[in-house]
Amino acid sequence: MADHHRARIEFDPRFTVAEVPARLFGSFVEHLGRCVYTGIYEPDHPSANADGLREDVLELIRELGPTMIRYPGGNFVSGYRWEDGVGPKEDRPRRLDLAWGVTETNQFGLGEFMKFCRTVGVEPNMAVNLGTRGLQEALDLFEYANHPSGTYWSDLRRSHGDEEPYGIKLWCLGNEMDGPWQIGQRTATEYGRIADQTARALRMIDGSGDLDLVACGSSSRGMPFFGAWENEVLTHTYESVDYISAHAYYQPQDGDLASFMASAQDMELFIDGVIATADAVGAKLKSDKKINISFDEWNVWYMHAPSGERDEPWPVAPRQLEDVYSAMDAVVFGSLLITLLRRCDRVTAACLAQLVNVIAPIMTEPGGPAWRQTTFFPFAEASKYGRGTVLNVNADSPVFETKKFGEVPALHSVAVANEDGSVTVFAVNRDLETPMTLEIDASSIQAGDVTVSTLTGERDAKNTLDDQDRVAPAANGDVTVKDGTITIELPAMSWNTIRIA
Ligand code: AHR
Repeated sequence: MADHHRARIEFDPRFTVAEVPARLFGSFVEHLGRCVYTGIYEPDHPSANADGLREDVLELIRELGPTMIRYPGGNFVSGYRWEDGVGPKEDRPRRLDLAWGVTETNQFGLGEFMKFCRTVGVEPNMAVNLGTRGLQEALDLFEYANHPSGTYWSDLRRSHGDEEPYGIKLWCLGNEMDGPWQIGQRTATEYGRIADQTARALRMIDGSGDLDLVACGSSSRGMPFFGAWENEVLTHTYESVDYISAHAYYQPQDGDLASFMASAQDMELFIDGVIATADAVGAKLKSDKKINISFDEWNVWYMHAPSGERDEPWPVAPRQLEDVYSAMDAVVFGSLLITLLRRCDRVTAACLAQLVNVIAPIMTEPGGPAWRQTTFFPFAEASKYGRGTVLNVNADSPVFETKKFGEVPALHSVAVANEDGSVTVFAVNRDLETPMTLEIDASSIQAGDVTVSTLTGERDAKNTLDDQDRVAPAANGDVTVKDGTITIELPAMSWNTIRIA
């Protein structure tokens, strides 16, 4: 095995992949564990504002930079009655949430979510329940949310204090409806039919011609009917929806860390498979339209870890899925982000699942502090510097061996031409052991100052309540610029943001 890698990339701002869609940096707030309660919403917290939102968390969310937020689930939505979460809080019912085995107090609902979105400046992405409910309830919700006034549901919203319609444009038609764990799981034909009927009826109320509707794709690439599901669902919905969803979570399997580092290979195959299937349906239907992917759940998730507290039955907002991420997880996470950017010609929306406490970049303690997980940093840097146009990158990289994917390039990278004329390269060295010298052929641009921020560290290093800042990116001074070539030293297992002025 080499003790040092050398890799090289080149790009030309004239050769582009696509503009980075604003919705690529979405995230996800589900009624799950402490994502909502004691996550974003904690009226008794010392930093809570008049709406009960934690200002310390809002500040971190702004720094993270999500552009859109999916709500209220996830598996939760498939048993949710949205009406429970609107109107006077004292009248809202407590309900069993079968998806996560907890009690939902409904103290946070649609109106609070919209206030949250306005406060942080993100686009809402609302999911409707196609598990225990159906077309009529989706229409009622839509009318409550988006119709101006003069009808039962719109006037109810106004009586709840929201005079102006919410104008929600992006809607998910259910969640993971192929999953046996989903309340009201459906076959592809059943789901395709109800999704199409719902989509067409929502467009009838809307009338603006400006809705974006997401049909559920497979819950993962590993589902037994992956491909066949998309084919059947899109055969029913091709002309009535805009997106098909994809969900993917990664974790090391049987201690195989090399394959874990290469998780983005699976994400790429997943995207290829969904696009091929969607385009095949389009061809069969002789349609000019293209269906894009909403990758509306992605992350590292240690799914087999204990999911949290269950001392009492049906607890309220217990600790669930509170994964604590390592430096290694952050590097894999960064590599997933690179894939989303590289494929943003067809992945035009995506949601990091989730936002706070639940497999999240931000953690909180009830009544206590909020801090950044390791995964916070790649997302924040990509959202801040990954705006503009993705460029075609030619890369020459050494490979490393993985059990799952065979030989995989150690360098994973993408270049974005930013709106201010600078170029940002995001680069991951996926090799756990071997550092890399990266040469960037910048002869196609007039490179000015180059600054590099690198996140690396001990594999298992984590940020915790007691050690909140152990892992963070640091300036990397190992950079030279000579004759149009930028040379940078990338540590083994590292995420790097390279800004070329
Ligand atoms: O994000 C956690 C869960 O993962 C979501 O509720 C569900 O959609 C997925 O299976």
